[in-house]
Amino acid sequence: MESHLHPPHQSIVILDFGSQYTQLIARRVRELKVFSVVLPCTASLEEIRKHSPIGVILSGGPSSVYDADAPKFDDRVLAMGMPILGVCYGFQLIVYKLGGSVKPAPRREYGHAEVNLVAGAKSRLFAGLPETLQVWMSHGDDAEKIPPGFDLIANTANAPAAIQDEARKIWAIQFHSEVHHTPRGKELLRNFVMEICGARGDWTAQQFIEETVRAVRATVGEKGRAICALSGGVDSAVAAVLVHKAIGDRLTCVFVNNGVLRKNEFEKVQQNLRDKLGLHLIAVDASASFLGRLEGVTDPEQKRKIIGNTFIEVFDVEAERIWKNEGEVEWLVQGTLYPDVIESVSVRGPSQTIKTHHNVGGLPESMKLKLIEPLRNLFKDEVRRIGRDLGMPEEILQRQPFPGPGLAVRILGEVTPERVRLLQEADDIVVSEIKAAGLYTQVWQSFAVLLPVMSVGVMGDQRTYANACAIRAVHSEDGMTADWVPLPHELLRKISSRIVSEVRGINRVVYDITSKPPGTIEWE
Ligand code: XMP
Repeated sequence: MESHLHPPHQSIVILDFGSQYTQLIARRVRELKVFSVVLPCTASLEEIRKHSPIGVILSGGPSSVYDADAPKFDDRVLAMGMPILGVCYGFQLIVYKLGGSVKPAPRREYGHAEVNLVAGAKSRLFAGLPETLQVWMSHGDDAEKIPPGFDLIANTANAPAAIQDEARKIWAIQFHSEVHHTPRGKELLRNFVMEICGARGDWTAQQFIEETVRAVRATVGEKGRAICALSGGVDSAVAAVLVHKAIGDRLTCVFVNNGVLRKNEFEKVQQNLRDKLGLHLIAVDASASFLGRLEGVTDPEQKRKIIGNTFIEVFDVEAERIWKNEGEVEWLVQGTLYPDVIESVSVRGPSQTIKTHHNVGGLPESMKLKLIEPLRNLFKDEVRRIGRDLGMPEEILQRQPFPGPGLAVRILGEVTPERVRLLQEADDIVVSEIKAAGLYTQVWQSFAVLLPVMSVGVMGDQRTYANACAIRAVHSEDGMTADWVPLPHELLRKISSRIVSEVRGINRVVYDITSKPPGTIEWE
């Protein structure tokens, strides 16, 4: 499948020095309808050239250029002659490599800052921007002396904030223009990508679909067969529909009920994917074996592992059955997205494991299936756009992300059939009320969490002693960071009173007002 992964489009290469914002840079470039590729900062000049970039962006990163283990970088890149933009660590690297100097800042600068353009400085990068910019900073080093040949374009109160060398086509900014805390940052990136690099902005969904369908056909051939595990979510569904468009019913989809799906989801997904979209779908109800193995387990990572492993076993059995009944299967379709791909090639290996995510890779070696990952170059919003162009129902496309281990990571403590039922009911109320209020597509995720806490209540004249649940609603762009959403009080009141009166077994509802970081979106 490599053949279609780098379609013959103009591209911007982003070298990843390990910043948590690298993917955001890639997204911002894509939003300009320009293809972007993230490569580890260790990529050689030759590897970079393979992507025929029209410009290169050096990302931020946690290191200091003077660190003994500072990430390796092929500095021939700086002499390539095509436009380069350094961001944060990328800025310092340019300063350091080209003869300037960098020093530790008196204190780490993290948060909002103000940047002022130097009087009289002319810069294409800042075209159309005001003389004072609100920006987001996150760095421990400052540029002390800017390199020879560079002009200073902007300053903070303490240090240089932007420099350029028009002759060598190198620009560098100390702040993060890609984050929304730099309100005019998108315009700055647009100036770089469209004006300085001269991008056409012609990377569209329709083009992607045609190229992908053609590539899948060529890869799988006239007779080849593929299987796909559907989760009910957007990614696997769009991947399946794309591949189905290419090879029809030679794609068999498998949807597993793991016992921790949402209320009625097992049936709804079948209706949508089999009945509406015409996918060749096998639905397997394995809830008893998942719930059986989860009995007595309270540790979050343990739960995730059990669900991941059981899923693999169930899928393995189905794959063998398909192989026997329908013919040899060579290919496995997965809805892997670009963020997962980038994560797995990052500078110092994947960042610290906060949670083991269940959805990528993870199928047994013994299956010897070759992977088709038609979405491995896309971000979530791009996947939705493509699904829309493929005529998929909004109900699937707009569905909020749902974790692979399902409600199990929203049931704190032991996952029992009764607790699953309680949470399914509460979750259904949250989702339906948020939909009724017209907010479902405006928040990234909104859901209920069943707590391992019992509390005393009163209902009618009766004392109750029952479970507590939490409501969580967050805004996010990509799940990596998130802000809690202040849902309207009236809506919260309605959700709370419906849950307490309709879900027997829950007598208290609390509201989670934690952002990420420091919280995570899911509770486990
Ligand atoms: P956290 O809880 O890590 O979640 O802040 C970030 C986003 O990822 C989703 N999530 C998962 N998605 N498999 C998935 O496919 C998983 O194992 C998994 N765990 C968390 C979560 O819902 C949120 O959108």
